[in-house]
Amino acid sequence: MSQPFDHLAKDLQPHYSRFDVANRLLFTGHSHQAWPDAAFEGMHEYETTVARDVDQKWIAAAEKTEILRNYLRRYYDDPDGYWCREQNTHVLMVSWLSSLDLVRKPVILTTSGEFHSMSRQLRSLAKIGVEPVILDHTEDETLLQSIRSHLNNRVSAVMLSRIYFQTAEIQTRLTEIAAICRDAGVPLMIDDYHGTNVVPLSLREAGLEDCYLLIGGYKYLQWGEANCFLRFPGNCSLTPLITGWLLRLEVWINQKTKTGSTLMREIKSLRLLHMIRCLSSVRHRLSIFLISRDSHRRCWKINIVHKFSSSRSFSRG
Ligand SMILES: Cc1ncc(COP(=O)(O)O)c(C=O)c1O
Repeated sequence: MSQPFDHLAKDLQPHYSRFDVANRLLFTGHSHQAWPDAAFEGMHEYETTVARDVDQKWIAAAEKTEILRNYLRRYYDDPDGYWCREQNTHVLMVSWLSSLDLVRKPVILTTSGEFHSMSRQLRSLAKIGVEPVILDHTEDETLLQSIRSHLNNRVSAVMLSRIYFQTAEIQTRLTEIAAICRDAGVPLMIDDYHGTNVVPLSLREAGLEDCYLLIGGYKYLQWGEANCFLRFPGNCSLTPLITGWLLRLEVWINQKTKTGSTLMREIKSLRLLHMIRCLSSVRHRLSIFLISRDSHRRCWKINIVHKFSSSRSFSRG
Protein backbone atom coordinates (compact mmCIF):
# COMPACT_ATOMS: atom_id res chain seq x y z
CA MET A 1 0.00 0.00 0.00
CA SER A 2 1.30 3.40 -0.92
CA GLN A 3 2.24 5.70 2.00
CA PRO A 4 2.25 9.53 2.22
CA PHE A 5 6.05 9.51 2.05
CA ASP A 6 5.85 7.58 -1.24
CA HIS A 7 3.97 10.52 -2.72
CA LEU A 8 6.51 12.94 -1.30
CA ALA A 9 9.35 10.85 -2.73
CA LYS A 10 7.68 10.84 -6.14
CA ASP A 11 7.26 14.61 -5.97
CA LEU A 12 10.96 15.01 -5.19
CA GLN A 13 12.26 12.68 -7.89
CA PRO A 14 12.10 15.18 -10.78
CA HIS A 15 14.25 17.61 -8.75
CA TYR A 16 17.01 14.99 -8.46
CA SER A 17 17.04 13.79 -12.05
CA ARG A 18 20.83 13.95 -12.53
CA PHE A 19 21.43 11.60 -9.61
CA ASP A 20 18.72 9.34 -11.00
CA VAL A 21 17.04 8.84 -7.65
CA ALA A 22 14.03 7.27 -9.34
CA ASN A 23 16.23 4.19 -9.76
CA ARG A 24 18.73 4.55 -6.89
CA LEU A 25 18.10 5.31 -3.23
CA LEU A 26 20.44 8.18 -2.38
CA PHE A 27 18.72 9.98 0.49
CA THR A 28 20.77 8.57 3.29
CA GLY A 29 22.36 11.71 4.69
CA HIS A 30 25.86 10.50 3.99
CA SER A 31 28.55 11.38 1.53
CA HIS A 32 26.65 9.71 -1.28
CA GLN A 33 23.64 11.93 -0.64
CA ALA A 34 22.04 12.96 -3.95
CA TRP A 35 22.36 16.56 -5.05
CA PRO A 36 19.31 18.36 -6.36
CA ASP A 37 19.40 19.63 -9.94
CA ALA A 38 19.41 23.15 -8.50
CA ALA A 39 22.94 22.44 -7.23
CA PHE A 40 24.16 22.13 -10.79
CA GLU A 41 22.58 25.47 -11.61
CA GLY A 42 24.36 26.89 -8.56
CA MET A 43 27.72 25.56 -9.77
CA HIS A 44 27.09 27.10 -13.15
CA GLU A 45 26.19 30.43 -11.53
CA TYR A 46 29.40 30.24 -9.48
CA GLU A 47 31.60 29.81 -12.54
CA THR A 48 29.75 32.48 -14.45
CA THR A 49 30.17 34.93 -11.56
CA VAL A 50 33.88 34.18 -11.18
CA ALA A 51 34.52 34.60 -14.90
CA ARG A 52 32.52 37.80 -15.07
CA ASP A 53 33.49 39.54 -11.85
CA VAL A 54 37.07 38.31 -11.38
CA ASP A 55 38.37 40.12 -8.26
CA GLN A 56 34.94 41.46 -7.42
CA LYS A 57 33.56 37.95 -6.98
CA TRP A 58 34.01 38.20 -3.23
CA ILE A 59 31.02 40.48 -2.99
CA ALA A 60 28.75 37.78 -4.43
CA ALA A 61 30.48 35.12 -2.30
CA ALA A 62 29.92 37.15 0.88
CA GLU A 63 26.26 37.66 0.01
CA LYS A 64 25.68 33.97 -0.60
CA THR A 65 27.49 32.96 2.58
CA GLU A 66 25.43 35.41 4.57
CA ILE A 67 22.24 33.68 3.36
CA LEU A 68 23.52 30.42 4.87
CA ARG A 69 24.55 32.13 8.11
CA ASN A 70 21.14 33.69 8.45
CA TYR A 71 19.55 30.28 8.01
CA LEU A 72 21.72 28.86 10.80
CA ARG A 73 21.05 31.82 13.10
CA ARG A 74 17.34 31.23 12.66
CA TYR A 75 17.51 27.45 12.89
CA TYR A 76 19.50 27.54 16.12
CA ASP A 77 17.71 30.60 17.55
CA ASP A 78 21.12 32.22 17.76
CA PRO A 79 21.04 35.91 16.77
CA ASP A 80 24.30 36.73 18.55
CA GLY A 81 26.50 33.80 17.50
CA TYR A 82 29.30 34.04 14.97
CA TRP A 83 29.44 31.53 12.12
CA CYS A 84 32.55 31.09 10.01
CA ARG A 85 32.58 28.94 6.91
CA GLU A 86 35.07 26.43 5.56
CA GLN A 87 35.15 23.53 3.17
CA ASN A 88 34.84 20.90 5.89
CA THR A 89 34.44 20.63 9.64
CA HIS A 90 37.90 19.12 10.05
CA VAL A 91 39.69 22.29 8.93
CA LEU A 92 37.59 24.33 11.32
CA MET A 93 38.15 21.90 14.18
CA VAL A 94 41.93 21.86 13.69
CA SER A 95 42.05 25.64 13.67
CA TRP A 96 39.95 25.69 16.84
CA LEU A 97 42.14 23.07 18.53
CA SER A 98 45.17 25.23 17.75
CA SER A 99 43.77 27.95 19.96
CA LEU A 100 43.80 25.75 23.07
CA ASP A 101 46.64 25.66 25.59
CA LEU A 102 47.44 22.00 24.99
CA VAL A 103 50.87 22.29 26.56
CA ARG A 104 49.64 23.25 30.00
CA LYS A 105 46.31 21.42 29.61
CA PRO A 106 46.86 18.39 27.38
CA VAL A 107 43.64 16.53 28.22
CA ILE A 108 40.65 16.58 25.87
CA LEU A 109 37.52 14.79 27.03
CA THR A 110 35.65 13.15 24.18
CA THR A 111 33.42 10.12 23.61
CA SER A 112 33.42 6.73 21.96
CA GLY A 113 30.66 7.89 19.59
CA GLU A 114 32.49 10.56 17.62
CA PHE A 115 32.83 10.72 13.86
CA HIS A 116 36.28 9.97 12.39
CA SER A 117 36.95 13.62 11.65
CA MET A 118 37.27 14.26 15.37
CA SER A 119 38.21 10.88 16.81
CA ARG A 120 40.98 10.14 14.32
CA GLN A 121 42.47 13.60 14.71
CA LEU A 122 42.45 13.46 18.51
CA ARG A 123 44.04 10.01 18.52
CA SER A 124 46.68 11.24 16.13
CA LEU A 125 47.46 14.26 18.31
CA ALA A 126 48.22 11.84 21.12
CA LYS A 127 51.53 11.22 19.32
CA ILE A 128 52.65 14.70 20.26
CA GLY A 129 51.46 14.70 23.86
CA VAL A 130 47.77 15.49 23.68
CA GLU A 131 45.80 13.21 26.00
CA PRO A 132 42.38 12.39 24.55
CA VAL A 133 40.22 10.69 27.17
CA ILE A 134 37.57 8.67 25.36
CA LEU A 135 34.50 8.27 27.56
CA ASP A 136 31.74 5.76 26.91
CA HIS A 137 28.80 7.53 25.27
CA THR A 138 26.13 4.85 25.40
CA GLU A 139 24.38 6.14 28.56
CA ASP A 140 23.79 9.90 28.73
CA GLU A 141 23.67 10.06 32.53
CA THR A 142 26.83 7.97 32.88
CA LEU A 143 28.61 10.18 30.37
CA LEU A 144 27.56 13.31 32.25
CA GLN A 145 28.97 11.87 35.48
CA SER A 146 32.18 10.75 33.73
CA ILE A 147 32.74 14.23 32.32
CA ARG A 148 32.08 15.71 35.77
CA SER A 149 34.59 13.40 37.42
CA HIS A 150 37.26 13.96 34.74
CA LEU A 151 37.07 17.77 34.62
CA ASN A 152 40.13 19.28 36.24
CA ASN A 153 42.77 21.91 35.52
CA ARG A 154 44.54 19.70 32.95
CA VAL A 155 41.49 19.64 30.67
CA SER A 156 41.51 21.95 27.63
CA ALA A 157 38.17 21.06 26.09
CA VAL A 158 35.20 18.74 26.00
CA MET A 159 34.25 17.57 22.48
CA LEU A 160 31.21 15.48 21.66
CA SER A 161 28.21 15.03 19.35
CA ARG A 162 24.62 16.07 19.87
CA ILE A 163 23.46 13.24 17.58
CA TYR A 164 25.75 10.22 17.40
CA PHE A 165 26.52 9.40 13.79
CA GLN A 166 26.47 5.60 14.14
CA THR A 167 23.25 5.19 16.10
CA ALA A 168 21.37 8.45 15.44
CA GLU A 169 20.81 8.66 19.19
CA ILE A 170 20.38 12.11 20.70
CA GLN A 171 22.61 13.22 23.55
CA THR A 172 20.01 14.49 26.01
CA ARG A 173 22.23 16.00 28.71
CA LEU A 174 23.97 18.76 26.75
CA THR A 175 22.57 21.53 28.92
CA GLU A 176 24.01 19.91 32.05
CA ILE A 177 27.30 19.13 30.30
CA ALA A 178 27.55 22.77 29.18
CA ALA A 179 26.88 23.91 32.74
CA ILE A 180 29.64 21.80 34.29
CA CYS A 181 32.07 22.87 31.53
CA ARG A 182 31.16 26.51 32.21
CA ASP A 183 31.79 26.05 35.94
CA ALA A 184 35.16 24.49 35.17
CA GLY A 185 36.06 27.19 32.61
CA VAL A 186 36.45 24.55 29.87
CA PRO A 187 35.11 25.18 26.33
CA LEU A 188 32.55 22.73 24.97
CA MET A 189 32.66 21.80 21.27
CA ILE A 190 29.54 20.10 19.89
CA ASP A 191 29.60 18.21 16.60
CA ASP A 192 26.12 18.80 15.23
CA TYR A 193 26.57 17.54 11.69
CA HIS A 194 23.70 15.12 12.20
CA GLY A 195 21.53 17.54 14.11
CA THR A 196 21.08 20.50 11.80
CA ASN A 197 17.75 20.43 10.02
CA VAL A 198 16.88 17.16 11.71
CA VAL A 199 16.48 17.72 15.46
CA PRO A 200 15.56 21.34 16.26
CA LEU A 201 17.63 23.15 18.87
CA SER A 202 17.38 26.59 20.41
CA LEU A 203 20.83 27.48 21.72
CA ARG A 204 19.23 30.11 23.94
CA GLU A 205 16.68 27.79 25.53
CA ALA A 206 19.20 24.98 25.92
CA GLY A 207 21.71 27.27 27.62
CA LEU A 208 24.35 26.62 24.96
CA GLU A 209 25.08 30.18 23.88
CA ASP A 210 28.66 30.05 25.12
CA CYS A 211 29.38 26.75 23.31
CA TYR A 212 31.07 25.98 20.00
CA LEU A 213 29.33 24.05 17.23
CA LEU A 214 30.49 22.31 14.08
CA ILE A 215 27.92 21.86 11.34
CA GLY A 216 27.98 20.78 7.71
CA GLY A 217 25.62 21.51 4.85
CA TYR A 218 26.25 18.46 2.71
CA LYS A 219 23.63 16.17 4.14
CA TYR A 220 20.36 17.23 5.65
CA LEU A 221 20.67 20.87 4.64
CA GLN A 222 21.14 20.05 0.96
CA TRP A 223 23.64 22.88 0.57
CA GLY A 224 26.10 20.83 -1.46
CA GLU A 225 29.73 20.27 -0.60
CA ALA A 226 32.13 22.73 1.07
CA ASN A 227 29.59 24.58 3.18
CA CYS A 228 30.63 23.82 6.74
CA PHE A 229 30.52 26.21 9.67
CA LEU A 230 32.07 26.71 13.08
CA ARG A 231 29.79 28.57 15.45
CA PHE A 232 31.44 30.50 18.27
CA PRO A 233 30.16 32.89 20.92
CA GLY A 234 30.36 36.65 20.49
CA ASN A 235 32.72 37.08 23.44
CA CYS A 236 35.14 34.40 22.21
CA SER A 237 38.76 35.30 22.92
CA LEU A 238 40.42 32.21 21.47
CA THR A 239 43.18 32.91 18.93
CA PRO A 240 44.11 30.01 16.64
CA LEU A 241 47.77 29.26 15.96
CA ILE A 242 46.94 27.68 12.60
CA THR A 243 46.89 30.92 10.73
CA GLY A 244 48.07 30.42 7.18
CA TRP A 245 50.60 32.69 5.59
CA LEU A 246 48.59 35.88 5.37
CA LEU A 247 50.07 37.23 8.55
CA ARG A 248 50.19 40.67 7.05
CA LEU A 249 46.88 40.80 5.31
CA GLU A 250 46.87 44.57 4.84
CA VAL A 251 50.27 44.58 3.16
CA TRP A 252 49.36 41.68 0.92
CA ILE A 253 46.08 43.19 -0.15
CA ASN A 254 47.62 46.57 -0.89
CA GLN A 255 50.55 45.20 -2.81
CA LYS A 256 49.12 42.30 -4.71
CA THR A 257 45.60 43.16 -5.70
CA LYS A 258 44.01 45.97 -7.60
CA THR A 259 41.03 45.81 -5.34
CA GLY A 260 43.15 46.21 -2.23
CA SER A 261 41.84 49.63 -1.38
CA THR A 262 38.24 48.53 -1.83
CA LEU A 263 38.79 45.53 0.39
CA MET A 264 40.57 47.58 3.01
CA ARG A 265 37.72 50.05 3.08
CA GLU A 266 35.31 47.18 3.61
CA ILE A 267 37.44 45.72 6.36
CA LYS A 268 37.76 49.00 8.19
CA SER A 269 34.09 49.73 7.88
CA LEU A 270 33.36 46.39 9.48
CA ARG A 271 35.37 47.38 12.56
CA LEU A 272 37.46 44.29 12.39
CA LEU A 273 38.04 42.63 15.74
CA HIS A 274 39.71 39.38 14.89
CA MET A 275 41.18 37.77 11.85
CA ILE A 276 41.49 34.06 11.66
CA ARG A 277 43.49 32.99 8.70
CA CYS A 278 42.97 29.38 7.98
CA LEU A 279 45.07 27.53 5.47
CA SER A 280 43.26 24.71 3.75
CA SER A 281 45.05 21.82 2.23
CA VAL A 282 42.98 21.02 -0.81
CA ARG A 283 43.54 22.32 -4.33
CA HIS A 284 45.61 25.33 -3.37
CA ARG A 285 42.72 27.08 -1.81
CA LEU A 286 43.53 29.72 0.71
CA SER A 287 40.83 30.95 2.95
CA ILE A 288 40.86 34.02 5.04
CA PHE A 289 38.30 34.53 7.69
CA LEU A 290 37.48 38.08 8.41
CA ILE A 291 35.47 38.04 11.53
CA SER A 292 33.91 41.33 12.27
CA ARG A 293 31.57 42.89 14.68
CA ASP A 294 29.36 45.30 12.83
CA SER A 295 25.99 46.42 14.02
CA HIS A 296 24.40 43.10 13.11
CA ARG A 297 27.31 41.13 14.55
CA ARG A 298 27.90 39.53 11.24
CA CYS A 299 30.72 37.26 10.35
CA TRP A 300 32.29 37.66 6.93
CA LYS A 301 34.58 35.49 5.05
CA ILE A 302 36.60 36.11 1.97
CA ASN A 303 37.75 32.97 0.26
CA ILE A 304 40.69 33.52 -2.02
CA VAL A 305 41.74 30.92 -4.54
CA HIS A 306 45.47 31.15 -4.82
CA LYS A 307 48.15 29.05 -6.43
CA PHE A 308 49.97 28.19 -3.30
CA SER A 309 50.95 24.78 -2.11
CA SER A 310 49.43 25.06 1.30
CA SER A 311 49.27 21.38 2.11
CA ARG A 312 52.98 21.09 2.74
CA SER A 313 53.26 23.88 5.26
CA PHE A 314 49.97 22.86 6.87
CA SER A 315 50.94 19.28 7.48
CA ARG A 316 54.35 20.28 8.80
CA GLY A 317 52.78 22.67 11.30
C1 LIG B 1 29.05 13.45 12.79
C2 LIG B 1 29.88 13.97 11.64
N1 LIG B 1 30.78 14.94 11.89
C3 LIG B 1 31.53 15.44 10.89
C4 LIG B 1 31.40 14.96 9.60
C5 LIG B 1 32.18 15.53 8.45
O1 LIG B 1 33.49 15.70 8.66
P1 LIG B 1 34.32 16.61 7.67
O2 LIG B 1 33.52 17.86 7.44
O3 LIG B 1 35.57 16.88 8.42
O4 LIG B 1 34.51 15.84 6.41
C6 LIG B 1 30.50 13.95 9.31
C7 LIG B 1 30.40 13.44 7.92
O5 LIG B 1 30.05 12.36 7.60
C8 LIG B 1 29.74 13.43 10.36
O6 LIG B 1 28.86 12.45 10.11
